Amino acid sequence: MKELKRLLDQNRAWAENIKANDPEFFQALAKQQSPAFLWIGCSDSRVPATQLVDTLPGEMFVHRNVANIVVHTDFNCLSVMQYAVEVLKVDHIIVCGHHRCGGVKAAMENSQFGLIDNWLRHVQDVLHQHEELLSAIEDAGERLDRLCELNVIEQVLNVGRTTIVQNAWQRGQELAVHGWIYGLQDGLLRDLGVSIDNAEGLAAAYDGAIKMRGHSL
Ligand code: CO
Repeated sequence: MKELKRLLDQNRAWAENIKANDPEFFQALAKQQSPAFLWIGCSDSRVPATQLVDTLPGEMFVHRNVANIVVHTDFNCLSVMQYAVEVLKVDHIIVCGHHRCGGVKAAMENSQFGLIDNWLRHVQDVLHQHEELLSAIEDAGERLDRLCELNVIEQVLNVGRTTIVQNAWQRGQELAVHGWIYGLQDGLLRDLGVSIDNAEGLAAAYDGAIKMRGHSL
């Protein structure tokens, strides 16, 4: 119970701190949200989406799952995307993975943890698709980090292929999709060079980013 009390106490101090800077902050935000970003990231406790980019409440719409996977039959993720794109009209969708991801590691090592193994089959699909590139990397940690990056690039492609994003681009709505990777060791984000804001360029952006992963061996 002590641990929970700590959270509630810290929340009170946090809200006080924000109100000290801007007394109307919460009242204004309660009326509406208009975030410019949708973040799709990993559930890992070490990758706190809004915290690591230092944003205030109201700035970022967030969806997180284990290994930041975007599956075309996942109505949870698709609903978040649809609402973010069509109602909130975000300008950017950021798929953010992180190095040394436990979900990606489990998929890579084919270790069993239960129900979640089935979810991580999607990461194994990425692994099999890029087996050649990955098997050329000798160091296991480096190989894992590379798979984390390839997984992000694949998920950016999946985002870009959804009817939600395809229709937005067709309507002429300004919307860009990006792939980033977060370094647990230094707390820094890196752009994986797979930003895309139109349907025509999607395949080329994907190919270019995959090639880049191969070259940085
Ligand atoms: Co992770």
